[in-house]
Amino acid sequence: MKSLLLLASLCLATTAIAQKFEGLALTPPMGWNSWNTFAANIDENLIKDTADAMIANGMRDAGYVYIVVDDCWEAKERDADGNIVADPRKFPSGMKALGDYLHSKGFKFGIHNCAGTETCAGFPGGRGHEYQDALRYAAWGVDFLKYDWCNHGTADARETYRTMRDALHKAGRPIVFSLCEWGQNKPWEWAKDVGHLWRTTGDIMAAYDARQRWESGWKVILDLQYSLVQPADGQNNGIGQYAGPGHWNDPDMLEVGNKGLTPAESRAHFSLWCILAAPLIAGNDVRNMSKEVHDILTDKDVIAIDQDALGKEGWRFRAETGREIWVKELTGGDWAICVLNTGSTAADMATDWPAISILHGEYTVRDVWAKKDLGTTRAARTDRVASHDVMLFRLTPVKE
Ligand code: GLA
Repeated sequence: MKSLLLLASLCLATTAIAQKFEGLALTPPMGWNSWNTFAANIDENLIKDTADAMIANGMRDAGYVYIVVDDCWEAKERDADGNIVADPRKFPSGMKALGDYLHSKGFKFGIHNCAGTETCAGFPGGRGHEYQDALRYAAWGVDFLKYDWCNHGTADARETYRTMRDALHKAGRPIVFSLCEWGQNKPWEWAKDVGHLWRTTGDIMAAYDARQRWESGWKVILDLQYSLVQPADGQNNGIGQYAGPGHWNDPDMLEVGNKGLTPAESRAHFSLWCILAAPLIAGNDVRNMSKEVHDILTDKDVIAIDQDALGKEGWRFRAETGREIWVKELTGGDWAICVLNTGSTAADMATDWPAISILHGEYTVRDVWAKKDLGTTRAARTDRVASHDVMLFRLTPVKE
């Protein structure tokens, strides 16, 4: 009897710690990450300047609050006690001071490390140090941990990420846990109770379409992920069904504004990430961006589609030569409809509302990027759309 009681209390104790922090990331996290533009060339001044720029250019107030320091912040070796330490040349004031700075400016502090023995860039990884590192991150005031999957050897992904989840929980500071195992172990099937977002793919590149070597344009990623997901019945029966408030599919950070994408492609990339309820983590140099890129990243009506409280991921409703139609259900019976010109020249794109079978009844139609009301779905539309550009519509039911 005694041993039964002991067993029961042990089980309870295990259940009590085996959980992620709830109530975080109720909409897809928004922020900025150093990797896509700066890779190893990071230091505390860059991070602080970026934060200052994001206040001045309105990004923070548009919702981009997580500033994430990606790979290469660490010193090459742990200290004599096995603690992970920041590179003292890049971060002479230390990570706690950086976190304090970000918090004082109204941001949240994100950091990157890896579930393997070393990060992808060869810095100390977390394997075997999870509880020690989690305490350290909590003490630094970290709010977001992106946890990579390089150099994991024979480790099991579920077990490894659960260990870090438990370590974070034990450390006691609510931290958004971002799994980055590139979709290799189908995290959407098991990570809902482990993390708040999980990468579904390898790294995207600032290219609409790149099919060579491991390089992947953003469209290639979407094609891979959504090629099998064209539901005839108008239901999202792909991986979108696994996403929702507190647990998101993450098709990788944004390349909006980076060399390799035309403005039209940046706009399309951003629109589709919003349709997918994807985390919006900017990856450009926000200290120096064109007005066009700034206006894409801070468009509140487009962001509202991503951040919609219903938390439903959209899907590719139709793919045909030269054109794709993507849809996302929103609160109040609204729908976002995105028409993408996949062709290499401008084209007239006809939108035949009755053929979009998820729609029922009449809706008003708003051109979200152009901020124009376009009448209702009674009238068919034809829009001239540039190559790799989109039309993004928000439909609202007409009250009877
Ligand atoms: C992996 C991740 C990237 C980035 C790099 C850093 O490739 O997928 O997003 O964090 O590691 O080395």
